[in-house]
Amino acid sequence: MRIDILTLFPEMFESPLSYSILKRAQQGGIVDIVLTNIRDFAADKYRKVDDKPYGGGPGMVMMPGPIFDCFEHVEKLSAEKGRVILLTPQGQKFNQAKAVELSKEKRLIFISGRYEGFDERIRIGLGAEQISIGDYVLSGGELAAMVAIDAVVRLLPGAVGDEDCPKDDSFSESADGGLEYPQYTRPEVFRGMKVPDILLSGDHGKIAEWRRQQGLERTKKWRPDLLNSGKKEI
Ligand code: ADE
Repeated sequence: MRIDILTLFPEMFESPLSYSILKRAQQGGIVDIVLTNIRDFAADKYRKVDDKPYGGGPGMVMMPGPIFDCFEHVEKLSAEKGRVILLTPQGQKFNQAKAVELSKEKRLIFISGRYEGFDERIRIGLGAEQISIGDYVLSGGELAAMVAIDAVVRLLPGAVGDEDCPKDDSFSESADGGLEYPQYTRPEVFRGMKVPDILLSGDHGKIAEWRRQQGLERTKKWRPDLLNSGKKEI
């Protein structure tokens, strides 16, 4: 997969992209992540990328010119067309199903905004879909892009080893879209708290059933909204 990120702050991405799974996936050629600074495409000598909103109101809005020029430059860097994604609190809520869907693409082009938002012609003109990572407003789309990229890249084949395979994750199909079962590791007894006997029984069938039940209980208790959304079978 190729991921392009258009941003005013490419440096913000350096650390998250340099550790663990994201680092290994890039080194292993599973994903190629390319950062491009929108400000390099500003037309004037002040490198201006935002302006006052027409009709008045607070804050500044990202101008279409620099983003279109930046996008047209980036688009040509690969023959693959790519899916264009604007990070904005007005977008569709990002979730595991969306991560799975995006992980099947060959190319993703993320555009992170700042200020009060994007000039509407950016969304329309670039045919972009909008993604929000939750109902709160961040200072910009960079952290949101990182969240989405992390969730997508770990799903790419070969990105995580068998030892931490995302198959049984919370929200995954094997968890029926609900929460994952409780996990335990050594020691067997820690500060008086014992690992459930079933996990030491060696009976894989019983363990699988126990885990399914536990996942369901936890979903009912902590995330009943997942049951109501129809994602999880009761
Ligand atoms: N930009 C600002 N807030 C955001 C959010 N919640 N999700 C995605 N992008 C954003």
